[in-house]
Amino acid sequence: MVGTWEALVAVRYLSMDPTIRGWLERDTYLPRVEEGAVIRSLGVGQVVTSRSDRYTEGDLVSGMTGWQEWTIADDDQRQLQVPPQGTDPLDAVGLFGPTGLAAYFGLLEVGRPVAGETVLVSGAAGATGSVAGQIAKHRGCRVVGTAGSDDKCRTVVEEYGFDDCINYRTEEVRSRLRDVCSDGIDVFFDNVGGDILEAALSNLARHGRIVICGAISQYDGAEPRGPRNYTQLIIRRARMEGFLVFDHADRYPQAIADLGRWAAEGIVRHHVDVVNGFEQVPAAFCRLFTGDKIGKNAVKLDRDPDRQDDRGGRRPCG
Ligand SMILES: NC(=O)c1ccc[n+]([C@@H]2O[C@H](COP(=O)([O-])OP(=O)(O)OC[C@H]3O[C@@H](n4cnc5c(N)ncnc54)[C@H](OP(=O)(O)O)[C@@H]3O)[C@@H](O)[C@H]2O)c1
Repeated sequence: MVGTWEALVAVRYLSMDPTIRGWLERDTYLPRVEEGAVIRSLGVGQVVTSRSDRYTEGDLVSGMTGWQEWTIADDDQRQLQVPPQGTDPLDAVGLFGPTGLAAYFGLLEVGRPVAGETVLVSGAAGATGSVAGQIAKHRGCRVVGTAGSDDKCRTVVEEYGFDDCINYRTEEVRSRLRDVCSDGIDVFFDNVGGDILEAALSNLARHGRIVICGAISQYDGAEPRGPRNYTQLIIRRARMEGFLVFDHADRYPQAIADLGRWAAEGIVRHHVDVVNGFEQVPAAFCRLFTGDKIGKNAVKLDRDPDRQDDRGGRRPCG
């Protein structure tokens, strides 16, 4: 019976995702979050009490917990998944969550890179971009990233193994792309949209593929802006395609197995930037838009004053 509670869950980590910005504003692929409602969000928690066969006390569970410290997994509205035994809770929000899975399906199913091709990834130091680029490297591609600081570009090249990285805040992206992707971009995995999308369109190879994973430069502003030079798609016989990771849910187990193996073999590195305390949620969320972090953003909810990663008191965005 809907509404009969099944399990009480203590939320341990909340995943910070740019898409929440859209959910707060308008109906998207999910209905808008109404004012006063709990903000919809991916989270990971631990079952504290259960009256269900589906959950056992102590189970790690993941799903739409919302921005709250406790949640109830009910019959269908708030069904949470039990990840495979031994899953690290941070992997459940990061590498095996929507960002790691978007990298996997967006690159491999939509972009379909072939060894020897050139792949460009925007937001390359972020949760999705860093994983997409590393998978492309593993596929034998030449991989170039864009990111918002020299430090991030260093991480993208030295830690994530990209061949090159352009700091879009200090460099002229269009002309730099002409230099570093001199045979053209075969696959562009785009997390950002806006000016970087236009720069990539102008440097696309013939039969290039643009994977529209996200468009974060368009989420927090006024009127969204489309690429003015989209006719490059005609000239270059190219394709631009969006996707939603949830459409691939039936194949998550295969993706998680591959990502887990690549992580264990050191092929894919994944960094989670964790801050501690529920009161840090707004500031952590804002850092997605200021770029003041590397890798995946998550908030840990159980308090431990000795934690190294407690960044209480950091400035809010803006
Ligand atoms: N299609 C799907 O199913 C799916 C699933 C998950 C995520 N996504 C999308 O994937 C994208 C990345 O999400 P994520 O969670 O992995 O975030 P993220 O890349 O970890 O964090 C966002 C990054 O975007 C960059 N950024 C912010 N504002 C920008 C701007 N105006 N111009 C250029 N770069 C900007 C910042 O890095 P810099 O310092 O480098 O600017 C920031 O660190 C988002 O667009 C998200 O909506 C899509």
